[in-house]
Amino acid sequence: MNKLNLDLAAFMQEYWQKKPTVLRGAYAPFVDPITPDELAGLATEEQVESRLVTFNDGKWKAAHGPFDDYSQLGESHWALLVQATDHWIKPVADLITPFRGLPNWRIDDVMISYSVPGGGVGPHIDQYDVFIIQGSGSRRWRVGANTPAEQFVATPGLLHVNQFEPIIDVELQTGDILYIPPGFPHDGYAITEAMSYSIGYRAPNQQDLFSSFADFLLQEDAGQTRYTDPQRQLTTEPGLVTEQDVNDLRTLMQSLMQDEQLFSKWLGTTLSQAKHELNILPPQEWDLIPDELIPALEAEDELYRLGGLRCLYFPALPDCCFVNGEQLMIPEGGHELAKLMCNSTTLTINELHPFLDDPTLVEWICYWFNQGYWYLASDAEE
Ligand code: SIN
Ligand code: CO
Repeated sequence: MNKLNLDLAAFMQEYWQKKPTVLRGAYAPFVDPITPDELAGLATEEQVESRLVTFNDGKWKAAHGPFDDYSQLGESHWALLVQATDHWIKPVADLITPFRGLPNWRIDDVMISYSVPGGGVGPHIDQYDVFIIQGSGSRRWRVGANTPAEQFVATPGLLHVNQFEPIIDVELQTGDILYIPPGFPHDGYAITEAMSYSIGYRAPNQQDLFSSFADFLLQEDAGQTRYTDPQRQLTTEPGLVTEQDVNDLRTLMQSLMQDEQLFSKWLGTTLSQAKHELNILPPQEWDLIPDELIPALEAEDELYRLGGLRCLYFPALPDCCFVNGEQLMIPEGGHELAKLMCNSTTLTINELHPFLDDPTLVEWICYWFNQGYWYLASDAEE
């Protein structure tokens, strides 16, 4: 298994959200968890978001998948990019494991690109932090300073920035990692055929948060407290909205956000939603009844959480957790179990043992399995 050789705490202190850096050999020796053929196979799937970016005769082109024919592509200047590969391929999801000191809600997905010499997506800016792990092959990467840069449409579906003065200009070799915080322009092209694994982190902006909060209020029929003004005095300036009025209206809005439970419930539902489709199998393929759970678990070395599944819990809501956009009530006595399920992506039967004497908790564990949120190691190999 690939192993990260990096002092993550020191990295966080010096670089996280501050400046880009090259982490030489941080994932060396590195073995590709997927082959280019398997990646191309994923890109044939309807549920998987993929893009093909080409650069020919000075022109960029971007097409959206699914793709099942690559015969028109030459031997250089193209890249296939596949999003959320961690949702489908467990060894890819395992690449995130050493980074789990960063919380579940910040992780977006693992995007993989396969590029042939000269292939890349051109100079651009991302709104997320990214660790780009260099798999097989090598790529040259240039990263500029985060001075404001205008974005433009190079071709529909591809936003670019103009060329920039690099503060980093390197050739990444297998096992190297390039970390780029949001807003730093970058451009990477393949020197040889190359596989790159981008672990992306999302940080919502105020617009994202307010619009999602407003949707949540409508859905929950919450936020019905109306403005009142029993102390109103007459005015000689009917056109004026006074400072007091402004403050009262703002306070009315803020009071909703200060409702710890409501606010946490909204955050739980929104932050636990995956942006890309999950590989949830139809329930009948799983159905495990409580009596079968313990023997099934005992026959396994390990249990795995579904790749890309987001599991969260909040101090203000100790009796529930949030999984895949849903609020799950925790049965009595299940708090430690819920934390374990939310904090782990792999479990052994020994870790579950303390909970298996309680039939309600056994039933609850079954529920997680039957939803497809966890699966047995033996099912992973099929
Ligand atoms: C790529 O792998 O070509 C794109 C990754 C990125 O620039 O974010
Ligand atoms: Co980028």
